[in-house]
Parts: sequence; structure tokens; C-alpha cells
Amino acid sequence: MKIAIIGCGYVASYYLKTLSIHPQLELVKIMDKDTERANKFSQYYSIPACNSLADILIDPKIEMVVNLTNPRSHHSISKACLEAGKNVYSEKPLAMTIEESKELVEIARQNGLQICSAPCSLLSETAQTIWKGLRENIVGDVYLVYAEMDDGLVHKMPYKQWVSEFGAPWPYKDEFEVGCTLEHAGYYVTWLTAFFGPAQTVTAFSSCLIPDKVKDESLSPADTPDFSVACIKFASGVVARLTCSIVGPHDHSLRIIGEDGILGIKDCWYYGDPIYIQRMVKIRRKVFYNPLKEKYPLVKKAPEFDYRGAQEMDFCRGVAEMASAITEKRPNRLSMDFSLHNNELALAIQSALETGSCYRLTTTFDPIEPMPWAK
Ligand SMILES: NC(=O)c1ccc[n+]([C@@H]2O[C@H](COP(=O)([O-])OP(=O)(O)OC[C@H]3O[C@@H](n4cnc5c(N)ncnc54)[C@H](O)[C@@H]3O)[C@@H](O)[C@H]2O)c1
Repeated sequence: MKIAIIGCGYVASYYLKTLSIHPQLELVKIMDKDTERANKFSQYYSIPACNSLADILIDPKIEMVVNLTNPRSHHSISKACLEAGKNVYSEKPLAMTIEESKELVEIARQNGLQICSAPCSLLSETAQTIWKGLRENIVGDVYLVYAEMDDGLVHKMPYKQWVSEFGAPWPYKDEFEVGCTLEHAGYYVTWLTAFFGPAQTVTAFSSCLIPDKVKDESLSPADTPDFSVACIKFASGVVARLTCSIVGPHDHSLRIIGEDGILGIKDCWYYGDPIYIQRMVKIRRKVFYNPLKEKYPLVKKAPEFDYRGAQEMDFCRGVAEMASAITEKRPNRLSMDFSLHNNELALAIQSALETGSCYRLTTTFDPIEPMPWAK
């Protein structure tokens, strides 16, 4: 499938790094509103650059647009692409409000197109193995999940020195203004909704603890939450507590607590992160979790990535899944309704503020299929 990328910033390099894993994808054009950046990207990766969005929209060969613009541009770019008859794979969040997200899904449906949103790490070897273990009742009935997306005190880190492979700086202003919840909740929300089904309610608290993160520049808005904690109740009865912050010490762990033990990992940003099971042991009159963790093997080894970093993810796996679903005329595992539901959850957590109350989800989705190699 011929695809185009719009938005040639920091994350675009990671897509280029993993594109070759998916030979069914052919990147034919790239575009960025910053023409200097687009030209630099074009030269570095030898992909033709276009000068305008219209150049992509009128090209009949392009079937799918990968929207890697900043979150506040997602809605307008995705809408223009859908209206021009292009399928859209969008970086997260799908949009900045639930009304905008619903509008995108509606336009896609009316035009017989698809739109879905990153992250696609649900398709990773680690997530698919956990899901298989849960289907096989490996830790018995699940009651509770603790998921953490804490990244440490990011404003204290030398973030102005972080640059992508081709030289794009990490967009710290945008990251702080959009906020860590909208940026990162999806990494676990997508896993939890796939494993346990649609969420019914979310009761959350979110707060901006460090308003002056960038000393010499003002942020707009200045008070985007940099901490959130949410309790999500799934229709299946499972409850999950999810924490997102750029304040709490780095912790990307997941613990799924079942009747017969804990199924857990250290970091969802690694496609091949090892999985463990912790069983309960009884010694005399005491019962506790065995400090010796059992290894739960991955159903398949994750690929070797051509980069090392704070994450090892196959960014293009979701793009490839969507392309294959369209070509094979089968449902996309990262379906539109699934993306919409996850976006609604992340938005509800972000906007809970300190007065948050119980939010009832207005969207749902049909059960999605595991990857064929993890059934
Ligand atoms: N930075 C990361 O580590 C990271 C990781 C995973 C996902 N993401 C996601 O990727 C997306 C992009 O993030 P980034 O870090 O690459 O940001 P970035 O600011 O580095 O790059 C975004 C690019 O989009 C361009 N752009 C913005 N609006 C546009 C428009 N209307 N038309 C054309 N081009 C436009 C900008 O000029 C910029 O070059 C975000 O949704 C973010 O959540 C980022």
C-alpha cells in the first residue's frame, strides 16, 4: 500500500526506523508545514517531499496517510485526509476533544474509510502473550490491575538536547502543553480495554504540580496536568488503577492481580519485555507473594530493532495492521471504535482535574481479535 507521512518531527524517525519490517508499506511522499524540516527529512531518508497538504490529498496513488503532526493538528489534518478519500493512521491522541474524535469516525464511516490511532503496542509480543495468558486463565479470575506510566522529573532532564536521528528536537513545549496523560495513558488503556472489554466508568483526579516547568518560556496552557490517577471500571467487573505523571519516579510497570497470582511486566515500551508470574505461597500461618518470580515465555520473540532508546517499539506495526486489514477486507484489530473508546478514556482522565467525578463512557467497541500467532 502506498502511504504518505504528514508531520516530519521527532517521532517520524522512529516510523522510518521500523518501516522496513513491513514490506507491504511503501512510503511515497512526506510533508510538513515547516518546509525546511520537510526538506531535511526528505534528503536524510531519500523520500520525496511535497510542498502542500493538497499535493498529498490529490494524489490518487496514496491510500493511507500517517498523521504524525502535533496533537492539536490531528483533527484538522485527519479530517482533510478523510474528506479527500484517504484512510488515516493517526498518532495519539485521535483528537483533543471527544466531539472531534466522534466527528472523524463518522466521516470515515460515511466515506467507507478507516481511521485509527496509535499506540499500537497492543500488537506487541509482550501484550499479545499477556492477553493469551489471561484467556488461558493463567492467574485465575482477575480482580484488579495496577498500571503505571510515570516518567520521573522530566523538566529536570536535559530535554533540550534530545534530538531524533535526522536532527528534530524533542518538542518539549508541545509535550508539556498537551500533557503526559493524553500523551501516555493510551499505552496501557489500549491493553486494558482489549483484555477486559469496554470501560463503563472512570473516576479520576488530575493536577498540575509544576506549572513553571520551562523557566524562560511560557506554556499555553500553563496548567496542563502533569499527574493523573484514574480508577477504571470495566463492564467485565475488573477495576484498574492507572497513574500517569512526569513527576513520579520512572515506572512503566503493569501488575494484573488474579485469584492465583500476579501477571506482570516492567515496561510496556519494550515490545519484547519479559513477563513474570508471582504466585502466592503459604508458609505455616502466613500467605504472601513468592519473591521468586516465574518466567512466562513470550509466544514469539520480538524483532531486533535498529535503534536503542528509552523504548523499543515497532511504530509501523499499527500502520501495517491497518493496511493489511484494508487489503484483506477484514476488521482492523485497532478498529475505529476501539480507538475512539480509548481516546474518550484518556480525555476523561486528563480533564478530571482536582474536582473530578465519576465519568460514564459514551462509546464502546466490538471485541477485537488477537494476532494470529498469539491465538
Ligand atoms: N516525541 C515522542 O517521543 C513521541 C513518541 C510517540 C508518539 N509521539 C506522538 O507523535 C506525534 C508527533 O510528535 P513529535 O514528537 O514528532 O512532534 P514534533 O513537534 O517533533 O513533530 C510534529 C511535526 O508536525 C508538523 N506539523 C504540525 N502541524 C502540522 C500541520 N497542520 N501540517 C503539516 N505539518 C504539521 C510540525 O511542523 C512538526 O514538524 C504526537 O502526536 C505525539 O504524541 C511522540
